[in-house]
Amino acid sequence: MAVEYITSKNMCLLIYQTLRLMNKGVAHHSRRVSYIMSKLLECRGGYEKYEIADFMVLALLHDIGAYKTDDVRMQLTYEAKKPEPHSVYGYLFLKYLSPLEEQSKMILYHHVDYTKTKDLDYRYRFELELLKVAEIIDVWQKAFGDKFDYNVIDQYSGTKFHPEACSLIKEAIDKYDIITKLRDVSYKDDFYDSLEYVLLSDDEKDKYLKMLMYCTGLKDEEIVSNTTAIIYICRELGRKMRISEVDKNEIYYAALLHDIGMLKMPRELLNAPRVLSEEEKNLIRTHVEITGNTLKGRISDRIVAIATAHHERFDGSGYPNALKGGVMDTRQAILQVAESVVNSRREKPYRPAYTDEEIINDLNEGIVSGKYDGIVADTFLKNYKEIIEKASQKADAALTTYQKLQRNYEQVYKGFV
Ligand SMILES: [Fe+2]
Ligand SMILES: [Fe+2]
Ligand SMILES: [Fe+2]
Repeated sequence: MAVEYITSKNMCLLIYQTLRLMNKGVAHHSRRVSYIMSKLLECRGGYEKYEIADFMVLALLHDIGAYKTDDVRMQLTYEAKKPEPHSVYGYLFLKYLSPLEEQSKMILYHHVDYTKTKDLDYRYRFELELLKVAEIIDVWQKAFGDKFDYNVIDQYSGTKFHPEACSLIKEAIDKYDIITKLRDVSYKDDFYDSLEYVLLSDDEKDKYLKMLMYCTGLKDEEIVSNTTAIIYICRELGRKMRISEVDKNEIYYAALLHDIGMLKMPRELLNAPRVLSEEEKNLIRTHVEITGNTLKGRISDRIVAIATAHHERFDGSGYPNALKGGVMDTRQAILQVAESVVNSRREKPYRPAYTDEEIINDLNEGIVSGKYDGIVADTFLKNYKEIIEKASQKADAALTTYQKLQRNYEQVYKGFV
């Protein structure tokens, strides 16, 4: 279904924008590595354009683990001094939560010396070597600036890096003027042009959109469990209200992505053990506009309109635009009611979770006052217990996925270092 809502190129742009929300520096580095990777493959030859584009997506995600395991502002530390944590976490994140399971091992080994990877029995063994040189060229050219001489890579030929990868990178740099393009940022044009050849299947797009939702868990796992509960509630309300399949799908993707703007929020504020100041609350509220700006023009406008209205309320008491019922529809109403209930059930550092009785009261009052769409809130009330129970189970299952990933991380890490 996702194919109707997003093109392959826009999917890649959305991945890049999501990385950017978490940290601009890492996102830029990832985009540059993705570009260098594409030129290396082009230079080597024998690849179709769409195959190159697939490796570009992988390269774009090569440091995703760092958002979880490291202070992403300290790039040189986690890339050069202690690269294992982000390599292992990134590998597992992509293996379990993305459509790149087969290529994910390239992430695991992207900082391991050639002397240790040369005998790997792995389909993408050589492409892994290319990713390694693409990555180091960008780290070096950033670190050494104008003094950087890429011939220095010869010193590591056959030890850290594959001799053929070293020759190829020098050839590609000369042929495509890579270093100049990185410095004057004109590489971006080539990068975006190549994305035209990314061919993602419907299933892959769906998995990538889910992966973006899981990215919110790199910052705060509770966002993933809440979103999972909200998705379930939306689906059940939609089903009971007999809305169309198209509407159900649009609500689904809106629910999946509605809090992606939270990725830009400072970690300290997300679970601050106190009441936030007005200024801090206003900052958190900007997550809705950030979600909108991230999605706009990349995914269907109808999905954006649902996602960005999740904190609006039918009586105009919501934010960011204090929209009223007259300009909103059932799809927006469903996400709003689901979000409101899940948020109320969440314990905050400064208040306990609302009880089911209090939430039921709020829904009833909201129908009378016009805060909620009456039909949606009433449908929820009629099926409250059944929906909430299953929604909680779904939320717990999503958290379990993360805990499994963490356990797996510790095991793989022990065996890896
Ligand atoms: Fe990197
Ligand atoms: Fe890395
Ligand atoms: Fe939100």
